[in-house]
Amino acid sequence: MNKVLENIISRRSIRNFRDEQISEEELNTILLAGSYAPNGMGMQSWRFTAVQNSEAIGKVNEAIRQTLLSVPVIAETHPYIVSLIEKAKDENANFLYYAPTFIIVSNLKNNGNAMPDSALAIGNMMLAAHSLGIGSCWVNQLPGLTHMPFIRELLTELDIPQDHIVYGSIVLGYPAGEPKSADPRKDVIHIIR
Ligand SMILES: Cc1cc2nc3c(=O)[nH]c(=O)nc-3n(C[C@H](O)[C@H](O)[C@H](O)COP(=O)(O)O)c2cc1C
Repeated sequence: MNKVLENIISRRSIRNFRDEQISEEELNTILLAGSYAPNGMGMQSWRFTAVQNSEAIGKVNEAIRQTLLSVPVIAETHPYIVSLIEKAKDENANFLYYAPTFIIVSNLKNNGNAMPDSALAIGNMMLAAHSLGIGSCWVNQLPGLTHMPFIRELLTELDIPQDHIVYGSIVLGYPAGEPKSADPRKDVIHIIR
């Protein structure tokens, strides 16, 4: 199997990180890989905001926590959201796995390709990270809360344009320990000849 395929197949989501920051060169390479993802009509309308300042990451985490606490729980609230709200009640709750680097991928609200464009860029970044020995995990709280006023204020502080929303975000860092092996693949491949 060639190295690209091996890299794709061996990547796993990493949720435990060493404290040490990834290097500037590694970060730049990962962001560059994101920027070369295919994107609808070649618009490149995304923005990759990399946050490495631990205070700023703490602020993002606290904004997620506070915003979750403001979400009303009703009968229809999805059990996963209920579990996040429960977690948010702990003032030390960390939604970003204590990772040293956090990347927010935002894109135009009104670009119909923004979600697939952003997801492809994130996929590129996760694979690039893995090829450099850096672990990553998609964390979905921020995208889900992107319309909430407190989160919008935070995005403005991070220079994320007003006409953007968050489509995805990832944590990155050197892995601490081995991840569990991949789940067996489901029967999803269907070839018609
Ligand atoms: C759209 C999306 C949202 C995800 N959200 C989260 C999340 O909020 N927290 C988390 O720990 N993992 C999250 N993940 C990671 C998945 O749980 C993980 O990719 C999946 O279990 C397969 O494991 P693997 O990445 O190790 O192959 C997300 C992945 C995707 C693609």
